[in-house]
Amino acid sequence: MTAPIPSPPGLPLVGNIFDLDPQNRLQSLIHLADIYGPIYELRLPTGNLIVVSNHELFDEICDEKRFTKVLSGPLIELRSAIHDGLFTAHPGEPAWGVAHRTLVPSFGPLAIRDMFDEMHEILTQLVLKWARYGPDYRIDTADDFTRLTLDSIAICAMDTRFNSFYTEGVHPFVKAMQEVLLEAGRRSLRPSFVKRLMKSAEKKYADDIEVLQSTAQKIVADKRANPTDKKSLVNTMLNGKDPKTGQKMTNESIADNMITFLIAGHETTSGLMSFLFFQLMANPQTLQQAQREVDKVIGTGPVKVEHLSKLPYITACLRETLRLTPTITGTVMGPLPETKEDPIIIGGGKYLVKPGSKFTMILEKVHKDPKVYGDDADKFRPERMLDEHFNKLPKNAWKPFGNGSRACIGRGFAWQEAMLATAMLLQYFDFRMDDPNYKLAINQTLTIKPKDLFMHATLRKGVD
Ligand code: HEM
Repeated sequence: MTAPIPSPPGLPLVGNIFDLDPQNRLQSLIHLADIYGPIYELRLPTGNLIVVSNHELFDEICDEKRFTKVLSGPLIELRSAIHDGLFTAHPGEPAWGVAHRTLVPSFGPLAIRDMFDEMHEILTQLVLKWARYGPDYRIDTADDFTRLTLDSIAICAMDTRFNSFYTEGVHPFVKAMQEVLLEAGRRSLRPSFVKRLMKSAEKKYADDIEVLQSTAQKIVADKRANPTDKKSLVNTMLNGKDPKTGQKMTNESIADNMITFLIAGHETTSGLMSFLFFQLMANPQTLQQAQREVDKVIGTGPVKVEHLSKLPYITACLRETLRLTPTITGTVMGPLPETKEDPIIIGGGKYLVKPGSKFTMILEKVHKDPKVYGDDADKFRPERMLDEHFNKLPKNAWKPFGNGSRACIGRGFAWQEAMLATAMLLQYFDFRMDDPNYKLAINQTLTIKPKDLFMHATLRKGVD
C-alpha cells in the first residue's frame, strides 16, 4: 500500500509558490521539512517538486539507473548564456559528452598539480593585501575570497587576469556575470508573459550575456591565432579530442565552457572558504589545531604542492564545512527519460510519485541525518571527517559535489585551491571575528555564503 506524499496546502492556481521566500529558498525548504518531514511535495508553476531530506531517500534518488539530473529554475535560464555547456546541458546532449570526455583528464590530479603555481601566485596577492592593510582592517570575508577564487579560475580556465586585488570596482566581465546570475534567479520565478512585459530587464539580460560571450569568443579567437604549447585547460579545449568520437570541441562550446567554469567555479569555492573561516574563528581550538598542523608540516617556508596531501586535519575541516554548509544546497533530479518504471514508487515501496514530478534534496539536512552522523550531527567536529571515519561513511552520506556522471568536474581544482589557501593563510595570520557575537546568516543566490561576516587578520611572528 502506498501513502500520499505530504504536501503543504498552497493556494488555488499558484500552488505553493508563496511557501518559498525568493530571497532565502533554502530556509523555506528547511522550514517546510521541519513541519512535513523528510519527504514532501510542492506544487509549483514549473510542476511538482518532491523535496527529500534524509539519507535513505536521498540515497535512493542518487541511483543513476533510475534517476538523472534535470534542468530547472535558474539553470534553465542560464542556458541563454551558456547553452549546452557542461553545467547546463540536458542529459544526453552531444556537446556535453564531447566536452566531458575531452576535459576529464585536464581535471585529473596531475593536471591540477600543474595549476599550483598560478593558484599560488593569486593567493600571494591576497596575503600581501591583508598583510599591508594590517590587523585593524575589517576584511569582508566572502568578498575577498570571491576575488581569490575568481582570479584563480580566470587564469586557469581562460588565461585571463582580472586583477581583482588591484582594482577598486569589478572587471566588466565579472560585473556582467554577476548580473546574469542574479537575473537568472529572478527570471526563474517569473511567468513567461511577465518576462515579455519587462522589456528593459530583458534587454539588460541580453546585453550582459553579450559581454560574456563576446569576451570569451575573443579569447578563443586570440588563442587560435597565437597558439602555444603550454599545458593548460584552454589548450586542452582548443586542441584536445574526445577519445570516444574523435571530435574536437567547437569554438562555441569552448566559449560556453570558459564562462561555465567561471560561473561554477568561483562562488562555490569562495563560499567554502568563507564558511570554513567562520567555523575556525567560532571554534578557536580547531583553529589552533589546524595552525599547529601547518606549523609542523610546512613550518615557515613556502607551501609546496607536496605538503597538501600531508594535512589530514585541514582536509577534515574542509569536509566538515561542506557537510554542514554545502555551497550548492541541492540539485534537481528526475526519472530517466527512457524509464520503464511505471508507476514510480520510492521510499521502500511507500510513496507513489505523480508523473512528471521532479526531485530535489535539502543537502544540508541529508548531511545532518542523525542516523548517519549521530546526535551531534549539527555540530562542527572535524575529527569525524578524518580518513578513518570518512572512508567508512555510508554511500551518498556526504555529497557536496553532486552525483554520478553529472558530478562536479572541478572538484580536484576546488580542493587544491582551498587546501592551499587555508594552509598559507593559517601560516601567515591569526584570525578573529570583527563581531565576537556574530551569528551565522546566509546569503543565497545560485550558491550560499555567510552574510556580513567580517574578520581581522594579524601577521604571525616569524613567517618569511
Ligand atoms: C557541477 C559543487 C567547484 C565546475 C557541480 C555540481 C555540484 C558542484 C553540486 C552538480 C550540479 C548539478 O547537479 O546540477 C561544487 C562545489 C565546489 C565546486 C561545492 C567548490 C567547493 C567547482 C570548480 C569548477 C566547477 C572550481 C571549475 C573548475 C563544475 C562544472 C559542473 C559542476 C563544469 C557541471 C558538471 C557536469 O554536469 O558535467 N559542482 N563545485 N565546480 N561543477 Fe562544481
